[in-house]
Amino acid sequence: MPGIVLIGAQWGDEGKGKATDLIGTKVDYVARFNGGNNAGHSVVVGNESYALHLLPSGIINPHLTPVIGNGVVVDPEVLFQEIDGLEARGIDCSHLKVSEAAHIIAPYHRTLDKVTERFLGKHKIGTTGRGIGPAYADKINRVGIRVHDLFNAKHLHDKVEASLHQKNQMLVKLYNRRPIDVDQTTDELLKLGERLKPYVANTGLILNKALDEGKTVLFEGAQATMLDVDHGTYPFVTSSNPTAGGACTGTGVGPTKITRVIGVSKAYATRVGEGPFPTELFDESGEWLRQQGHEFGVTTGRPRRCGWFDAVVNRYASQVNGLTDIVLTKLDVLTGLKEIPICVAYDVDGERHDDMPTDQAAFAAAKPIYETMPGWDEDISDCHTFEELPATCQDYVKRLEELSNCRISAIGTGPQRDHIISVHSLID
Ligand code: GDP
Ligand code: IMO
Ligand code: MG
Repeated sequence: MPGIVLIGAQWGDEGKGKATDLIGTKVDYVARFNGGNNAGHSVVVGNESYALHLLPSGIINPHLTPVIGNGVVVDPEVLFQEIDGLEARGIDCSHLKVSEAAHIIAPYHRTLDKVTERFLGKHKIGTTGRGIGPAYADKINRVGIRVHDLFNAKHLHDKVEASLHQKNQMLVKLYNRRPIDVDQTTDELLKLGERLKPYVANTGLILNKALDEGKTVLFEGAQATMLDVDHGTYPFVTSSNPTAGGACTGTGVGPTKITRVIGVSKAYATRVGEGPFPTELFDESGEWLRQQGHEFGVTTGRPRRCGWFDAVVNRYASQVNGLTDIVLTKLDVLTGLKEIPICVAYDVDGERHDDMPTDQAAFAAAKPIYETMPGWDEDISDCHTFEELPATCQDYVKRLEELSNCRISAIGTGPQRDHIISVHSLID
C-alpha cells in the first residue's frame, strides 16, 4: 500500500517534475492534489523536454494512471490545450482521471486575479495571473463551481449567477470594468463540460481502492512549503496547501495510507514573485546562479530570485511535512564556486533564531547567519554514485543533510532523467 507524497521544500521550482518522473517509472498512479496551472513542472527525456502545468508530470510514463484530485483548481481550457499539446507529441492522455469535486477556474477568476493584483499596487503578491487565488477564494466562500456542476445546465446557471452577483458589483463599482454575463459564461462552461466528461471520475474511490490492492500511488505536489497558505510566508503565498497534509485533503485519501514523504530541494534557493527571502543575492553571485541554473519561470518566464541554501527553511520543511527523504537537485549548478555559503540560522534584531520565526515581520527582518564550505571545480554530471563526487562536494551534501534534519536519498546532477545519484531507494 505505498502512498508516497512528493512536495517542494522551498519556494517552488525545486525540480519536482524531474523527481516525479524518476519515481514515476515504478508507480501505478500519480495524483496532483493542490494548485492548478500556476505550476510549471519540467521533465526532460532524451532530446524531448516537457513543461507540465495542470497535468501530473507522471503522464509522461505510459503505464501509469494520471489523476487530478479534488484539491486542484482546474481551468478546462488550459487542460485541453495541454492534452492536445501532449497528444500531438505522441503522449496518450485518454486514461486521465479528473475528480468530480475539483473546483473550476472560470474566465472571471483570471480577470479578477489580474485586476486585484493591479489594485493592490505596491502590496501585490506577484501571482501567476492564472486565476488561482480567486478560484480558491470562491471555494472557501462557498460560491465555487465544481466539475460535476458542469453537467447540469439549470444548476450551473444558478451557481454562476450566485458567484457573479457580488463580483459584478465589484468589477463595475470598484474596478471600473464591464459586468460579466451570466448566460454567456454558463454556455461557455457547459461546452467545456462536454469535453471534460469522459475524464471525470470518483478519484477518491479509485485511489483508495488502488492503495488497498497494494498498488503504489505518488502524490505530486505543486508549489512548495514556503508558499503554503497556512505554513508559508503569508500573505506572499499561493492559495492552497502544497505541504504534505494537502495530499490527503486534496485527494480524499486518509493519512494512515501515506508511507513516505519526499521533499524536493535545490542545492541553493530561488523564489518567484514578491515576499521575503532572507538569503536572496542582489550582487553578481545571484546573477551567476540565475545564469548557471537557467532560473527563469516555466509558467511565466519571469527571472527567478536566487540565493544561497537556507537550512532554516529546510529544517522547517522537514518538520511541517514530516519528511522521510530529500531529493537534492541542481548540485551541478554550484560547480566552479570557490566557496559556498550556507545559511544555518537567522539574526533577527540581534537575536539568533535556529528555527523559523512564526511572526512574518521577524521573518522579513531575518538576516542570514552563514557558514562557508569549500567548493569544487570538477564536472559532476557523469557521477553516478555518491563516492564518485569530489570530496568537497560530498562534504557539502553531508552538511546540508545534517542541517536539514532529514536524509538525502537522491542527488540531481543535471536536468536529464539519468542525471541522478541514488543514495537510498525512494520506493520500497
Ligand atoms: P518544479 O516546478 O519543481 O517541477 O521545477 P521546474 O521544472 O519549474 O524547475 C526546475 C528546473 O531545473 C527545470 O528546468 C529542470 O529541468 C531543471 N532540473 C531539475 N533537476 C536538475 C538538476 O539536478 N540539475 C540541473 N542542472 N537542472 C535540473
Ligand atoms: P511550481 O509547482 C514557484 C508563486 C507566484 C506568487 C505566489 C502566488 O512550478 O513549483 P498564485 O498564482 O499561485 O496565486 O501566485 O506563488 N507561485 C510559484 N512559484 N513555483 C510555482 O509552482 C509557483 N506557483 C505559484 O509566483 O509569488
Ligand atoms: Mg516550476
